[in-house]
Amino acid sequence: MATDERKKQEERPVLLEVRDLHKLYPIQRGVPKRTVGYVRAVDGVSFQVNTGETLGLVGESGCGKTTTGRCIVQLEIPTKGELIFNKDGQQVMINQRTIKSLRRDLQMIFQDPFSSLNPRMTV
Ligand SMILES: Nc1ncnc2c1ncn2[C@@H]1O[C@H](COP(=O)(O)OP(=O)(O)OP(=O)(O)O)[C@@H](O)[C@H]1O
Ligand SMILES: [Mg+2]
Repeated sequence: MATDERKKQEERPVLLEVRDLHKLYPIQRGVPKRTVGYVRAVDGVSFQVNTGETLGLVGESGCGKTTTGRCIVQLEIPTKGELIFNKDGQQVMINQRTIKSLRRDLQMIFQDPFSSLNPRMTV
């Protein structure tokens, strides 16, 4: 990596950090229902996104991309792991309690562009 490119990266503070994220869904069988196992939808995912950076998450179907996103915005409660958001220079833990105050900064845009984006507005 070129020196000035590295310098540019260092100037970008971490915006979002995902640390060792896990999401397990119980598999239930029988009457009465018993948990017979777990679907390990997300199994120890860590990454960070710097300010001004775009990160693409790529992988085969069912590998946990959507679940990772849903956990970050708290549409799913993570089984384990830490989610940290840099809000105006303050490190804020993303959880059920704090997500409401982060809604303006942290959102999900669903895949159907016609229902998630306003066609009257430019990107
Ligand atoms: N609510 C749920 N209950 C049980 N299992 C689930 C649930 N949601 C997702 N899973 C399972 O978790 C795994 C990860 O699913 P996820 O939707 O995150 O994958 P994905 O990478 O987004 O896949 P795709 O590329 O098809 O969108 C899959 O095995 C899926 O079947
Ligand atoms: Mg998906």
